[in-house]
Amino acid sequence: MQEKMNELKLSALSALEGCETSRDFQDLKIRYLGKAGEVTGLLKGLKDVPKESRAEVGKIINDLRQELEGAFAAKEEELQKKEMEAGFLAEALDVTLPGTRPERGTLHPLTKVRNEIIGVFTGMGFEIFEGPEIDTDYYTFQALNIPKDHPARDMQDTFYITENVVLRPHTSPGQIRCLEQKEPPIKVLSPGKVYRSDDDATHSPMFQQVEGIVVDKKVTLCDLKGALDAFAAKLFGDETKTRFRPSYFPFTEPSVEVDVSCFRCKGKGCNLCKGTGWIEVLGAGMVHRNVIKNCGLDPDEYSGFAFGMGVERIAMLKYGIPNMKMLFENDVRFLNEFDK
Ligand code: PHE
Repeated sequence: MQEKMNELKLSALSALEGCETSRDFQDLKIRYLGKAGEVTGLLKGLKDVPKESRAEVGKIINDLRQELEGAFAAKEEELQKKEMEAGFLAEALDVTLPGTRPERGTLHPLTKVRNEIIGVFTGMGFEIFEGPEIDTDYYTFQALNIPKDHPARDMQDTFYITENVVLRPHTSPGQIRCLEQKEPPIKVLSPGKVYRSDDDATHSPMFQQVEGIVVDKKVTLCDLKGALDAFAAKLFGDETKTRFRPSYFPFTEPSVEVDVSCFRCKGKGCNLCKGTGWIEVLGAGMVHRNVIKNCGLDPDEYSGFAFGMGVERIAMLKYGIPNMKMLFENDVRFLNEFDK
C-alpha cells in the first residue's frame, strides 16, 4: 500500500512538473484528484484494509491527498500567471512600429487638364456654362447653321436617339443655349462630355470638349488669336506660339484650325509634331452671322469668336500618352504617374 502511494505521489508530481497548459492541467487534476481519480480510488480501497490499521492508512492517504492538492493549487496559479503574461505579450502594441498608410488618391489626368484649361479661361473672365449631354437636333445642328441633310453632318458621327434627339457630338450647342439665355457681352466656357460613333487609339465614343464663346460689339479674329495665345502659353509653356490654318465649320466664318508650336522640340521638328514643328490642338472661328441671327441678335451689331477643343487630345499631347484608352482604363499604376 505504502509503495503504491509513493508511486502515485511520484507520478503525479512529475506529471505536474511537465505540464505546460491549463488544459493538460485540468486532465491531470481529474486523473489524480477527481471523483473517479486515483487518490479517491485509494480511499475506496480502504474497506479492504484490516480494521486495526484502517485509521492509520486513511490518515496517510489524506495526507497524500492534501499534499497533492497543495501542489496542484500551486501549479494552477503558476500556469494562470504564465498564460496571462503570454496573453498580454500577444496583445502588446508596439507604438514605435511604422503605421500602415492608406493609399492616397490623385486627380485623374483628364480632370487635371480640364481644370487647367478652365483655370486659364476663367482667369480671363470667362463664366462656366454647362449644357445637356442629350440635346435636340435643333440645338446640336440646325441653330448652328447645319440644316437637316447638310453634308457637314458627316463631320460628326452622331449617335441618334430619335430623329430629333441626339447624344451631343460636340459642346457647340452650348453656344446657342447661352446666346439665347444671356445678353452680350457674353464670355462663356462650356466644358462637358460628348459622344461620337468613333473608336480607335486616338478616338473614343465618349470624350470631353471645352467650348468657348465670346460675343460682343466689335469682337475680331485678333481677339481670338490673343485669347488662344495666352491659353497656349499657360498650358504648354511660355514660348509656345499659335498659328491659324484656314478650315471649315458651318457655324464659324472664317473658320480656322489652331496649331501650337511643338513644345517638345520647340518647333525644330520631332516625332510628336511629325517633323512639322506644329501640333493641331483645336478648331475655332468667328461666330457665323446666321448663328448670331438664330439667337435673336443683329449680326451687324454683334460679332464673336468661338473655339472647341478635346480634353483627351490635349492631355495626350501634354503628357505624351500614346493611346486614348489608357485614360479610361483606370490602371492605378498609370494614374499614379500623375501624382507628381
Ligand atoms: N464643334 C467643333 C468640333 O467639335 C469645334 C469648334 C467649336 C469649331 C467652336 C469652331 C468653333 O469639331
